[in-house]
Amino acid sequence: MLTPAAPRPVAVDAALDRRLRAMPKVELHVHLEGALDADAVWAMARRNGVPLPADTAEGWRDFYAFRDFDHFLRVYTAAAGTMRTAADWAFMAETFVAGQAAQHVRYTEAFLSASFMVGGPVPEPDLLDALADGVAAGEARHGARVRFIPDVARHLPDTQRAVLEFATRGHARGLFLGLGLGGPEVGWPPELFRETYAEAGRRGLRLVAHAGETVGAGSVRGAVEALGAERIGHGIRCIEDAAVVTLLRELRVPLEVCPTSNYHLGVAAAGRPHPIRALVDAGLTCTVNADDPGMFGTTLTDEYRLLAAQGFGWEELWQLNRNALDVAFLSDAERAAERARWDAWAAETAATA
Ligand code: ADE
Ligand code: ZN
Repeated sequence: MLTPAAPRPVAVDAALDRRLRAMPKVELHVHLEGALDADAVWAMARRNGVPLPADTAEGWRDFYAFRDFDHFLRVYTAAAGTMRTAADWAFMAETFVAGQAAQHVRYTEAFLSASFMVGGPVPEPDLLDALADGVAAGEARHGARVRFIPDVARHLPDTQRAVLEFATRGHARGLFLGLGLGGPEVGWPPELFRETYAEAGRRGLRLVAHAGETVGAGSVRGAVEALGAERIGHGIRCIEDAAVVTLLRELRVPLEVCPTSNYHLGVAAAGRPHPIRALVDAGLTCTVNADDPGMFGTTLTDEYRLLAAQGFGWEELWQLNRNALDVAFLSDAERAAERARWDAWAAETAATA
């Protein structure tokens, strides 16, 4: 693995930049907790009296210089521990919707790190109410829609059943879409979660999993074959095994690619083009996502900018964005309505370009 290095801000052609900012978007892989930046987490920690592994806001900010996945996980876990009240969750949800709306992200499927929530300080009914209130207020004020996917942290496998029950109850309320799997891949293979995923599938939950980020193609195969994952978070290391690339292409399993996150965590080689080019060329359905935008100092729009700077043209970027709409867990009617709006936007943009 190469030394991680934060990608520098990228400059793209002004007209393309305007289009990327204005285009209606769908985002499928973003963590609600990871959307908070260091200052917001610091403020939450102070408000709730939760100690952080730094004495000052500046020290805490310095902690966000990621070295590798394990270091990232330490930051992420500390940040998640500062969220202690129902009001925190309502605030985070509404703020998140506002941020998505400001980027014209009209629909988002966002992860909740549910292994840290179950058995935590906020009783589940209050948590569900707070999240529902937050997204409803955000939608009413800002016009963007957000639904959640609770995920199991792989290194906390004992929480998987509780997360499944949480996911099931949130799903019944129309707030949650399915079940996810995140956290450290090394030492925590997909097969450990097989039974929980099978039960989630029987309950009608949609299934996704992070894989092929810090472990290679075998982990992606496991997510598909043992868990029945319908989309893979990251998945970029499938490229290490042609048979796994073929499997994904034949089963039409899309990848939720998160370029800046990959550079920060050393999953993509610093100073080299992101492997998404090879994945697209191999015929895989890729989508573009920010993963933990507050932690990695990025936005979904920045992710498109980064790819533009690496040679992706407008048509390709628009197609990647359309892929997200195509593979989102929307009903056919919702997808068709959204597509019609996008087509109208594209026609208007072409006419004025
Ligand atoms: N949780 C938040 N971000 C993650 C990532 N990039 N990989 C696995 N789990 C995560
Ligand atoms: Zn992720």
